[in-house]
Amino acid sequence: MSEALDYLLKVRKDAIEPYFQFLKEGGKHLDDKTRSLLSVITKVDAKTEAGLKQYLKRALKQGNSADEILDAMLTCMPTLGLSKIIWAVDIIIKMELPEFDPDKLGKIDKGKKKQSKKKQWHKVTSIDETKEGVSHHEYEGKTCFVTREGNDFQVFDTICPHKSANIPCDAIDGIIVVCPMHQWKFNMENGECIEKGNQQPLNKLEYKVEDSYLCVYS
Ligand code: FES
Repeated sequence: MSEALDYLLKVRKDAIEPYFQFLKEGGKHLDDKTRSLLSVITKVDAKTEAGLKQYLKRALKQGNSADEILDAMLTCMPTLGLSKIIWAVDIIIKMELPEFDPDKLGKIDKGKKKQSKKKQWHKVTSIDETKEGVSHHEYEGKTCFVTREGNDFQVFDTICPHKSANIPCDAIDGIIVVCPMHQWKFNMENGECIEKGNQQPLNKLEYKVEDSYLCVYS
């Protein structure tokens, strides 16, 4: 409850108490899950940050998924308007709630995409032109990192396992790659995350050498 309501409850108990009773009675046919979703929407509409944070956690606790909460906000777009939804999503991102991790939320769609987009072999670069150490390559609209040690190669996806940023070429610092978004650091000898992150490595891509070309399966 806000400090102001708390105050009014003390100094105008008779006037304020019926208001709380009204709120309680008004939603008595709704289950807790639905009621908590509606509370989130009212906080977005009123743009009260502390209230939104409080009711967001409550909505998750009552069994709503992050997708359901986002759907509820988007469904109310005609009345909330896009700017309030963006305001709320900014707060949600800053809260770093694991339930709202875009990798988890996007899983179904990504899976569908993977199924529909069949993997195949792509020529990436000529072996003769691949330098020792870590290099960044573009091929057919995609990108990858290649680590070369003599005749040993490793190929990694440039998509950061944290929040899916596409890590650029200038993120290479010797044998280390640092994602510019939130500074997760990867050791390119094996793709392991060595600093800041939660130990999720870069995705390793299957490769082969054919006619002096490095090819990846992606
Ligand atoms: S997207 Fe966050 S560290 Fe890469």
